[in-house]
Amino acid sequence: MRYYWDMTTSTPSSDRGLSKFHRLLVDQLRNEFTASQQYIALAAWFDDRDLPQLARVFYQQSLEERDHAMMMVRFLLDNDVPTAIPSTGEIRNDFDSPRDLVALALRQEREVTEQIHLLVKAAREENDYTGEQFLGWFLQEQTEEVAKMSTLLAVVDRANGNLFDLETFVARDMPDSSGGEAGAPETAGPGITV
Ligand SMILES: [Fe+2]
Ligand SMILES: [Fe+2]
Repeated sequence: MRYYWDMTTSTPSSDRGLSKFHRLLVDQLRNEFTASQQYIALAAWFDDRDLPQLARVFYQQSLEERDHAMMMVRFLLDNDVPTAIPSTGEIRNDFDSPRDLVALALRQEREVTEQIHLLVKAAREENDYTGEQFLGWFLQEQTEEVAKMSTLLAVVDRANGNLFDLETFVARDMPDSSGGEAGAPETAGPGITV
């Protein structure tokens, strides 16, 4: 239940009636859904070029990004923050080489890391301990995802155009995560992470 009329809240207000942290978190939904959709575009590109292992990794990444968004939806609902499900940003589909796609994925993960840092900063400035604790798992997750994409980019460069080597590496060293990640926030509805 939402108490729109409750004016006793001590949370700092903005023009949208939300704390800065809550406003940024609502905006972050769009970034996570965009990341999810962009990963589908990358997966489909690899799938279309008969690179099933790379396709698998990016289809899986897409599901994980969707989970991130749905964890945020769960948090917003549980904290009675008015939430609208957004459309995504622009999705890029034109690429010249596998390296372009992996480089885009790494850039995207670095951007999201910056966004999560801004969220942590806002929560901290507003003494939103619940919000700051919620973000702890995302900080850890971003470290892992940036590391994963930067390893993959290094392997792409090392493979030097040999797509068979690249697929072999991905098959051997990048298995799908099996879910049940420790401390992962709950999603709204079913997800693959928890
Ligand atoms: Fe994410
Ligand atoms: Fe990510």
